[in-house]
Amino acid sequence: MTLPSTALIHHPYTPPDSFDAPQPGVFKASTVFFKDVAAMRARDWRTKAGYTYGLHGTPTTFLLEERLATLEGGTECLLVPSGLASIALVDFSLLKRGDEVLIPDNAYGPNKALATGELANFGITHRLYDAMDPADLAAKLSERTRLVWLEAPGSVTMEFPDLPALVAACRARGVLTALDNTWGAGLAFDPFAAGVDISVHALTKYPSGGGDVLMGSVVTRDPALHLKLKLTHMRMGYGIGVNDVEAILRALPSLPLRYAAHDRAARELAQWLSGREEVAQVLHPALEESPGHAHWKALCGRSNLAAGLFSIVLGEGYGTEAVDRFCDSLQLFKLGYSWGGPISLVVPYDIGLMRDASVARWPHKGTLVRFSIGLEDVDDLRADLAQALMRL
Ligand SMILES: Cc1ncc(COP(=O)(O)O)c(C=O)c1O
Repeated sequence: MTLPSTALIHHPYTPPDSFDAPQPGVFKASTVFFKDVAAMRARDWRTKAGYTYGLHGTPTTFLLEERLATLEGGTECLLVPSGLASIALVDFSLLKRGDEVLIPDNAYGPNKALATGELANFGITHRLYDAMDPADLAAKLSERTRLVWLEAPGSVTMEFPDLPALVAACRARGVLTALDNTWGAGLAFDPFAAGVDISVHALTKYPSGGGDVLMGSVVTRDPALHLKLKLTHMRMGYGIGVNDVEAILRALPSLPLRYAAHDRAARELAQWLSGREEVAQVLHPALEESPGHAHWKALCGRSNLAAGLFSIVLGEGYGTEAVDRFCDSLQLFKLGYSWGGPISLVVPYDIGLMRDASVARWPHKGTLVRFSIGLEDVDDLRADLAQALMRL
């Protein structure tokens, strides 16, 4: 007879197989049991035909991977602990000493920081290209280029590139492309129809929708490419908290509705701001006067979607003090990074300091302020912006 301490640990338990409910079951594990040594020896952790160890997947993580592959129009998916980790996974899987990676000049900043930091330490070089000029990208592709990053639009300056033309330049040279698809979220356009090889997504934003979860995904359509990524994923020990996976699974069904609501409100506010005399330029790809609007229309015209993110450039006369006062005066908009949650956010950016000296495309002198529009009532947000503009 076993003592209670042992009996409690070895108490019989089999997960119910006839239980069905709206939310999928949550399975947590580092250790996974095998029924015998033969099963242990036969198990191949690279496939989804069974389970080996928590790091290599559980029924819960496999389910989220399948749903995200469906969302983005891919066939394979890997989960990582943040959006930035998904960028790092692609870099570390595909690049080695002597290789070069090309990054758009308006890319998410930490993508460039990873290149100037760790990649440079490993003997991997990078160059920035003008996201709005496919000829500039084509000219920078070399024998050493192994990977080209894409982003549509740049998530601060909001220019929408000619994605198919950028992809075509890479394909002509047999160079792999990876798109940061966080803005499009699998809803605004189909990244694989646009020709990209890899789509990374900061699930932290719209899929989470709560501003409380960090996670990223890497989706592909190519099993060999997926396996390459999966080997690096395993060796780097990227583990995901299953409670976070559960949160994303719970939020995914409402993603299209939330995304459309963020988009509607953002467009209304962007249009209203474009009529304000304090604002020199509104940067929102669905607005005609915004850089790359025609590219947005060509790629996203079918969905007519554009996320809830936009920036404004304030008139040159408004110095840092005035812009800071504007941001501090906002009541409903909170000061904070990220986007995709229910609460509207605002961040002032000094573009002059952010840009690499080799790319001098930014034409504006005024300060840029970026907004992530949440799910509040749009009239309340407009009133908040109006009262803060009075404080400029
Ligand atoms: C465009 C873009 N990609 C990736 C990320 C990284 O996501 P995470 O914060 O989950 O690392 C962010 C975060 O702000 C982002 O804006």
